[in-house]
Amino acid sequence: MAAPSDAPRRARRGDVASAPRTAAVWEVVSRTAAALQRAQPDADAPLTVLDVGGGTGGLAVPLASLGHHVTVVDPSPDALAALARRAEEAGVVGRITAVQADAAQLAQVVGPGSVDLVCCHGVLEYVDEPAEAVGAVADVLRDGGAASLLVAQRLAVVLARALAGRFAEAVHALDDPAGRWGMADPLPRRFDATDVIALAEAAGLSTSSDLAVVHGVRLFSDLVPEALVDSEDARTALLDLERQAGDHPDHPELASLAAQLHVVAVREPR
Ligand SMILES: C[S@@+](CC[C@H](N)C(=O)[O-])C[C@H]1O[C@@H](n2cnc3c(N)ncnc32)[C@H](O)[C@@H]1O
Repeated sequence: MAAPSDAPRRARRGDVASAPRTAAVWEVVSRTAAALQRAQPDADAPLTVLDVGGGTGGLAVPLASLGHHVTVVDPSPDALAALARRAEEAGVVGRITAVQADAAQLAQVVGPGSVDLVCCHGVLEYVDEPAEAVGAVADVLRDGGAASLLVAQRLAVVLARALAGRFAEAVHALDDPAGRWGMADPLPRRFDATDVIALAEAAGLSTSSDLAVVHGVRLFSDLVPEALVDSEDARTALLDLERQAGDHPDHPELASLAAQLHVVAVREPR
């Protein structure tokens, strides 16, 4: 695998690896990629990665900086233009392919069973049919490949609205089938953990294999006032707390309060 050598690449990877909102997810995604790579006949060969709704490349560029070949599928031309600029800046243009398309069209972008790792982060909230999108993700994965699904969780918004004094909106989000706090909620849909796991399993993605991970992300980061996280020590301690609370073996219920749920699921043999 080509080792990144220039400063912009290190900085870009450092961003995703250290920013409180992305560090825990990057840790799991990069660990999953490393495990998939080690399991290949040629452990140095880059992975084929698909980032569905990859937007401006916040995840695709660091993955390409690790040497992987990443295809970003996104319907937004503006996002893809920003991705191109980011890839150029990071020196990974040759390892990123951008395709303007919808999640439902994945099979027309890459062949079935051809991808090692599919990332679908912050997208299932927006697609017309989440089950169809997860099915398309499963179809393009090779057997044993991994899907990384990151979604907004319902209970986090219940807590956030309540702490903001918007009690009626908190109740609305508790009961609304789409997990929205009202008509003005900008997010079309939120999930409960059981929904995401059921979607994955129905598509042939195992959430119980060795490589699988289910953890809560950003349990406290969005709630703690910034003034309380104004030093490197405080940021490190907060990240450690997030890591521990996101999938604590004795307190699994904590994960359901996190802003996002991150599920890594493995494509079952066809
Ligand atoms: C919240 S952003 C997430 C971007 C990126 N994945 C991340 O985690 O930072 C949602 C992205 O999904 C894309 N998107 C919206 N609807 C989509 C669809 N039907 N299929 C694929 N991508 C979609 C948007 O253009 C946008 O880039």
